[in-house]
Amino acid sequence: MNAEGRSRLDQMPEWTALSKHREQLGEVGLRELFERDPARAERYTLQIGDLHLDYSKHLVTDETLRLLGDLASATGVSELRNAMFRGDKINITEQRSVLHTALRAPGSAVVKSDGENVVPGVQSVLTKMGTFSDRVRSGDWKGHTGRRIKTVVNIGIGGSDLGPAMAYEALRAYSHRDMQFRFVSNVDGADLHEAVRDLDPAETLFIIASKTFTTIETITNATSARDWLLTGLRAGSEAVAKHFVALSTNAEKVAEFGINTDNMFEFWDWVGGRYSYDSAIGLSLMIAIGKEQFREMLAGFHLVDEHFRTAPPQENAPLLLGLLGIWYGNFFGAQSHAVLPYSHYLSKFTAYLQQLDMESNGKSVDRDGNRVGWQTGPVVWGTPGTNGQHAYYQLLHQGTKMIPADFIGFAQPVPDLLPGLVAQHDLLMANFFAQSQALAFGKTPDEVRAEGVAEELVPHKTFQGNHPTTTILAKELSPSVLGQLIALYEHKVFVQGAVWNIDSFDQWGVELGKVLAKRVEPALTEGAEVPGLDASTAALVAKYRELHGR
Ligand code: F6P
Repeated sequence: MNAEGRSRLDQMPEWTALSKHREQLGEVGLRELFERDPARAERYTLQIGDLHLDYSKHLVTDETLRLLGDLASATGVSELRNAMFRGDKINITEQRSVLHTALRAPGSAVVKSDGENVVPGVQSVLTKMGTFSDRVRSGDWKGHTGRRIKTVVNIGIGGSDLGPAMAYEALRAYSHRDMQFRFVSNVDGADLHEAVRDLDPAETLFIIASKTFTTIETITNATSARDWLLTGLRAGSEAVAKHFVALSTNAEKVAEFGINTDNMFEFWDWVGGRYSYDSAIGLSLMIAIGKEQFREMLAGFHLVDEHFRTAPPQENAPLLLGLLGIWYGNFFGAQSHAVLPYSHYLSKFTAYLQQLDMESNGKSVDRDGNRVGWQTGPVVWGTPGTNGQHAYYQLLHQGTKMIPADFIGFAQPVPDLLPGLVAQHDLLMANFFAQSQALAFGKTPDEVRAEGVAEELVPHKTFQGNHPTTTILAKELSPSVLGQLIALYEHKVFVQGAVWNIDSFDQWGVELGKVLAKRVEPALTEGAEVPGLDASTAALVAKYRELHGR
């Protein structure tokens, strides 16, 4: 038992009950579950705002869901959720509140961190962002030489890149089509090179996005971007003010870099990087889609926040999705989770979720620092569905691994799709429905034989089925729906971290690599001796220098 009076997860009676239930369930199949209960599809469906969520194709019964609910109660998921919404410092290793929900709370809400209502600050930054976005979009904001801005380049990494890049891609149809938006994250100079090589500096605005403003990749790229700009404009540092703005919590470092803090859009330490694109980090997105549609997106987030906060457990979608993930990860040995959007616009959605989920729940010690004795966060992966069908779906259908998957699709294509392409949407969605159907129900050897297939090929053409999937269907991929989807996943990740008793809001695992890179760099550039360097890395460094021509 720990200080909060919580037993080890795997010693809780609720955990044992689930293990037993898993044994009893044996190899029960989805065909059988659907035959036993004709109302299953209807009963195992939820509507959250615009999201229609079907979880009937899961290897669960009412008893499974009851036992998973018991586990959530025993592990205090709702208590931790309330503590998060209240502003308690539930990020214990960094002693921080976790208040991304305040970023999308209505202006009238009161949410306190350290006794101070954070909502007025949030609203005032949103207003400042709105004014700035309007000016850039309308051409009122001019570059150093008096020309209007045509391209916005966001420079950031991790949460300061993935969120805005994903959301811009998702909402392209709602964006200012006469402007271009680019996202640079990689310290590989190729990224910045490709982003700026065809741009005119006089018409380019750089948004430097970094919570800490110390991240080496971002500061390096921002410095190179500044050099590119000033060289291209043949101007001195006075040109920076019209072409660089910063999004950060660290005014001191922003000023040190040479950006006027009037051109800084603030956020706060209670916004985690991977939970930040609805803060000032979303400025590039706001310029793309305009402040009104950005607000619609925030309202979508808020709708799901309220659902998570208030819906009863059996109707609570993030709770349910979190528990289903635990069911497969901890009781079926599933190691990964596929996210398969059937929308080209969601091409960066899974990459975004990788940080959200894997940086949050890729932990192996519990909140008290003890090594966990159970599996935690899964490997999250996937690409837009139809492309995946011609690549890795073979393994999903006939491989040996248990891989639960989420199918995300929309009834309508984006509003500005060329009329000639609208008919393709039904074909896209036919694939969407067919794939989860095939994964769930497969094809029996007898069904294969009935098609006249030669006996020796029957095993090869048989589909086991019983691959669990969730289907999320909405009318269209609007700003609000995107907000709803992201909040759904944020809270799902929260639920899992709460059950596993880990701190989902720190990320110490990224630190060691950063420190070692700093130590190794002088060895690459100057051939400096790195004390204590292991033999393998030392030999690789020597080879690198040789190949590089040093
Ligand atoms: O990868 C570690 C990390 O700290 C992420 O959590 C964060 O989103 C990213 O680096 C970027 O950090 P910053 O916004 O401070 O530059």
